[in-house]
Amino acid sequence: MARSAVELLAIENPSSRVLEIGFGPGLGLAALAERVPEGQVIGVDPSLLMHRHAGRRNAAAIAEGRIVLHRGAAAALPLSDASIDAAMMTDNLHFWPDPRAGLRELQRVLRPGAPVVCGFSPPSGGPPRGLARMFRSVGFRDIIESRDSAQYLLRAVHTPDAAGGGAGAQVD
Ligand SMILES: C[S@@+](CC[C@H](N)C(=O)[O-])C[C@H]1O[C@@H](n2cnc3c(N)ncnc32)[C@H](O)[C@@H]1O
Repeated sequence: MARSAVELLAIENPSSRVLEIGFGPGLGLAALAERVPEGQVIGVDPSLLMHRHAGRRNAAAIAEGRIVLHRGAAAALPLSDASIDAAMMTDNLHFWPDPRAGLRELQRVLRPGAPVVCGFSPPSGGPPRGLARMFRSVGFRDIIESRDSAQYLLRAVHTPDAAGGGAGAQVD
């Protein structure tokens, strides 16, 4: 699923600065790093155990500064405003205590037009009900969903002018 999520992000600029929230054992970090050989991958995860696993898996890229890991959570990303070109989270958003607040925090760190991919595997229980509607209601646009036996993926674009949805906002 990590590779599919990275493909769906369709990052074109190899110098992009990209984010994975809740990176777990670090497979997604590795796939992102391949995609941005001249850029940087930022990982944020609260778990010390996952930092150890992901750190071992990505030791070379971390030593080169191409992957940077932070202890933290979706609710308070340790990143500057509008500093991230693309972001992804897989089997992760359902752990956030307040997903809507987490998505708003994600928007804070994304550059306008930045794509986001949110994925769920079947063992995770799949996406929460109304996930696309939640993305839309906080101001993401160009939302597409795909689902097969292996995964569910949602792609959306950070569209600051759409924040809040507005009275006439469409609901997916
Ligand atoms: C099931 S693992 C998924 C790991 C990886 N993304 C994957 O797809 O294999 C969930 C991860 O979310 C992290 N996590 C839990 N609560 C979080 C939060 N509030 N913000 C960010 N990450 C969180 C956990 O520490 C864990 O690494």
